[in-house]
Amino acid sequence: MSYIDPQKNILPVSVTTLFKMKENGNKITSLTAYDASFAALFDQHGIDVILIGDSLGNVIQGHSTTIPVQVADIVYHTACVARASSRSFLVADLPFASYGNAEMALKNATLLMQAGAQMVKLEGGKWLVEIIQHLVKQGIPVCAHLGLTPQSVNTLGGFKVQGKTNTAAQIMREDALALEAAGAQLLVLEAIPSSLGKSITESLTIPTVGIGAGPDCSGQVLVMHDAIGAFPGRQPKFVKNFLECTGTIEKAIKLYIEEVKSGVFPAPEHCFSD
Ligand code: KIV
Repeated sequence: MSYIDPQKNILPVSVTTLFKMKENGNKITSLTAYDASFAALFDQHGIDVILIGDSLGNVIQGHSTTIPVQVADIVYHTACVARASSRSFLVADLPFASYGNAEMALKNATLLMQAGAQMVKLEGGKWLVEIIQHLVKQGIPVCAHLGLTPQSVNTLGGFKVQGKTNTAAQIMREDALALEAAGAQLLVLEAIPSSLGKSITESLTIPTVGIGAGPDCSGQVLVMHDAIGAFPGRQPKFVKNFLECTGTIEKAIKLYIEEVKSGVFPAPEHCFSD
């Protein structure tokens, strides 16, 4: 049965919508949100996907990495966001060490889904295949995340651009295909050369959402604090402050959507070369 919001008469975004958007070249817009006020604004202005990211460890909790984030934190913030959104598709992060095996992943993903998530996101390559299969079999949609995977900052040796060598790029392409075959229905690509973002996107049926992965992904995502210049300190190259040139949060959201849809964002200065 399809559901139509009685107040707005607008169909909510679903996995099917996202696949159609990729097929039609209609770029997917995504921002992180962690509370009801921003979720309502993003929902009303037409952000397609709201990500309740474990970046909340940085921007809300003040940690230097996402590693301290707990499942209970994501459950709490997912519930806050879910109360305020009706159209946007809600993806919630499974935090560090919460999906080490299929049973653990199912237990924690269930908590996120019951808090209002419509999909869960986890970071990593081929090692996730069985875990993703297990979640999908139980009716839990999965978003995978490749490239710079912040939960692995200590094994990566820092927040660095990934996939720069031919070998690393080839491994990432193979990971992407394996994750799609396992049942992932969305893929976040973070901090990789634009050419790799393009070739992975073209090799998959599922949509990709890039953050520092070039203009050819099926859509773009930013941490909301970065998109409105609310996070102090040095910003990654892929960040643009949309509030700076608009002056209000509403106008900044509209400009972000406009620039992603038209392909103006990300511009070359936000992208990584080979
Ligand atoms: O946690 C998060 O906000 C993310 C985005 C950076 C994609 O994973």
